[in-house]
Amino acid sequence: MTASDRLFELLANFEVAVSQSGVARTAGGKSLLSALTHLSDGALNEADAALSEFEGDMVAAGSTLAGIIANERKDFDNCKIFLLKAIDADDPEFDILCLTGDFSRHFGFLELAIKAYDRAIEIAPHASHAHLRRGQVYSEAGDVSAAIDDLLRATLLQPNLISAQVALGDEYRSANMTDAACKCYRAALDIDPQNAAAQSGLDHTLALVLPQWHSAMLNDTNRNQAFEEAIKAVVTPGCSVLDIGTGTGLLAMMASRAGAATVTGCESVGVLAETAKTIVNQNGFKNRISILHKRSQDMTLDEDIDEPADVLVAEIVDAGLLGENVLTAIDDARRRLCKPDVTIIPAAATVYAVPIESEDLAHERMVDTASGFDISLFNALRPNMYLQTNLSKYQWQMLSDPVPVFSFDFTQNTLASREESFRLTPHTDGVAHGVAFWFDLHLSSEITLSTSPAAPPTHWHQAVYTFSEPMEIKQNEPVRLFASHDERKITLSLET
Ligand SMILES: C[S@@+](CC[C@H](N)C(=O)[O-])C[C@H]1O[C@@H](n2cnc3c(N)ncnc32)[C@H](O)[C@@H]1O
Repeated sequence: MTASDRLFELLANFEVAVSQSGVARTAGGKSLLSALTHLSDGALNEADAALSEFEGDMVAAGSTLAGIIANERKDFDNCKIFLLKAIDADDPEFDILCLTGDFSRHFGFLELAIKAYDRAIEIAPHASHAHLRRGQVYSEAGDVSAAIDDLLRATLLQPNLISAQVALGDEYRSANMTDAACKCYRAALDIDPQNAAAQSGLDHTLALVLPQWHSAMLNDTNRNQAFEEAIKAVVTPGCSVLDIGTGTGLLAMMASRAGAATVTGCESVGVLAETAKTIVNQNGFKNRISILHKRSQDMTLDEDIDEPADVLVAEIVDAGLLGENVLTAIDDARRRLCKPDVTIIPAAATVYAVPIESEDLAHERMVDTASGFDISLFNALRPNMYLQTNLSKYQWQMLSDPVPVFSFDFTQNTLASREESFRLTPHTDGVAHGVAFWFDLHLSSEITLSTSPAAPPTHWHQAVYTFSEPMEIKQNEPVRLFASHDERKITLSLET
């Protein structure tokens, strides 16, 4: 809607409010309405003249109208003075105050708008529309928490107020409260399935919380089969299983199918947890699996599971192994939520790294000149972060043998950071563009799932650090690979 369309709409609303106020039938009210008609026609002098005949009954409405005329004349100081006068008027009417707020907002005077709605809410504390309007202005003013307070109040007062549900969803989304945002958009879509704003808000939020890799992961039959084999090998009738990061509930269903007496799956993403509940029910596991919308770290033995788990399943690894916080989640659950002799799947992992040459990978990750301009400074902005990389899509070669850089035994405390360095002997001359790394995930002593480029492909592919400057490598002249890790990240670099 254009600004002038919006002004026209507000004037029409104002006319309705004035007409319904009763003063319309008085002489003063008539001149007010006539001033409004002139104003809608753009006849400012006539509007002024009609307004000058208006005598004080409806001070708030008259002052608001004077403010609108001043704004049309671009006399913003007087506009503000009149609007403030309307807000501070004795005994103002609720509808007129709300409209004074709407005009103030439309003219860009957000503080005045808030004052007007404050006063309207004093008069009618349960008016959902006043809370909605004030919430929207707080949002425009960048005060997210005040906006959430008001919009939440509006939805509690009137749950079917779609615009409030959508506006509240938007605020939650900008505050990164994505589960709450999805709930609001869904509430709006329950009322009006065609609501475009609610649908778009939901789509954007789902895109934030559900990374693209979910489908590839769920379709990764190598991964699925390896996990199911490992689960079947350890789950015995009567045992209890905890599945951290259950996602769709897939591994929890495998555990139940393998005969577990109780299975609890926890999932930190609310929309996913809700969907997992439905999936599990649809697949016939209604009374055998309980899905919790919780981070494992927030679960307690008393509240969330009946007994400590015999088997802990935690498929919460990314291409770089540690990026989903697997170390802290397993360590915490092992100590608090499991039996002392718990079987953990995965039980361990080994990470391998190797310097690689790959002109086309480096070319894709680095910039130099574009359209004749030197834009290479952009490279300095790149975070020192590995990227998930399907090496098979590039021309590349290893410059030495890969080395095992770290092993993690998930049955023990793995949280201590480590630093290592390795002397590598290049088996060829070449240019090192980065370091690739991958892992063997030992689901049990018999079953290993590998993301090595030499192993059957998985959805994880490999992880690669690319260097800002390529390094010349000479055959048989040793180079040093530095490897470190903290709780969330393995970092690798190379020195010639
Ligand atoms: C890699 S996905 C795996 C999903 C599922 N386990 C599977 O194998 O199909 C990991 C999931 O775990 C969730 N997650 C990660 N850490 C978690 C934790 N500590 N507690 C609960 N959920 C977690 C993420 O939101 C994500 O949905």
